[in-house]
Amino acid sequence: MASLLRSSAARTLRTTRLLPILQPRFQSTHNVHDPPQGNTPIPNRSTTKRLPEFNLNDKVVLVTGAARGLGLVQAEALLEAGATVYALDRLEEPSADFYRVQKRAAEELGTTLHYRQIDVRDVEGLNGIVKGISDMQGKIDGLIAAAGIQQETSALEYTAKDANTMFEVNITGVFMTAQAVAKEMIRWNRGGSIVLIGSMSATVANKGLICCAYNASKAGVLQLSRNLAAEWGPYGIRVNTISPGYIVTAMVEKLFEQYPERRREWPTQNMLGKLSMPHEYRGAAVFLISDASSFMTASDLRIDGGHCAW
Ligand SMILES: NC(=O)c1ccc[n+]([C@@H]2O[C@H](COP(=O)([O-])OP(=O)(O)OC[C@H]3O[C@@H](n4cnc5c(N)ncnc54)[C@H](O)[C@@H]3O)[C@@H](O)[C@H]2O)c1
Repeated sequence: MASLLRSSAARTLRTTRLLPILQPRFQSTHNVHDPPQGNTPIPNRSTTKRLPEFNLNDKVVLVTGAARGLGLVQAEALLEAGATVYALDRLEEPSADFYRVQKRAAEELGTTLHYRQIDVRDVEGLNGIVKGISDMQGKIDGLIAAAGIQQETSALEYTAKDANTMFEVNITGVFMTAQAVAKEMIRWNRGGSIVLIGSMSATVANKGLICCAYNASKAGVLQLSRNLAAEWGPYGIRVNTISPGYIVTAMVEKLFEQYPERRREWPTQNMLGKLSMPHEYRGAAVFLISDASSFMTASDLRIDGGHCAW
């Protein structure tokens, strides 16, 4: 009888001691095993800890071709993630939208968007600008090389001069920008992330779009990226490409003016039946520049609505 009482008392003691541990952190009426309800959210509780690896606070990122188009939209995404962004472009004045983004950076996002006019073919000038930014900021964390040109001319009519211009901007210009930035990343010994804008046209010959030199240049960008990744991996520098499908930007609008039927035909060539908008590449830019992609290098992120898989 005495031993029965002792074990009962011990059981009560154990239960009482365990009770605080077993009690749920939040008193709620719901059953944790009830999937539709899940946990009870605490009202008015916000957090800055959401997916911190996507956070670009204090990162300094350069974006070429960011006076307008895809480059500018990606620059805005980087700003929203917290980065300080330098837009490099050959235009004397950036587009009107650039100033909207710059105002937003200052007033809403607590960061800054800067502009530097430079043609990426001017290697000396480019090196000077990149070094100047690096000296001022004490580092460079990322680059998106989006500056590029397109020219539609049949292969039989393409001149050597035009072909050289295409390759000089789209390959050598991208190469020299990446080189200038990588030198600074190595100087500060902090690693970094470099993203080169390729195209689905690096992989396929576009149906009804006559631009052999452009497509060859984008294939060159993809292969350049893999080799830069191999050489600069030991310095902690990652190099990847984004290969967009058709995006409705100034570059494409210009083609639609000349060939209006493409506005109807092109969307039928991918699995989603539409053309993409620049904002559909925002997430890719932040992902590749941030630590969210820390083990990713020498890869191509193809975002083409399934165009190339058909
Ligand atoms: N629009 C599309 O459908 C599409 C598809 C796949 C890939 N891309 C690529 O995306 C990138 C951006 O294209 P976009 O559609 O925004 O074009 P865009 O013409 O609207 O923008 C390109 C920007 O690059 C700048 N630029 C061009 N040559 C330069 C040079 N030599 N030096 C410095 N800046 C220069 C231009 O001034 C412009 O601001 C390009 O590399 C393009 O090849 C575009």
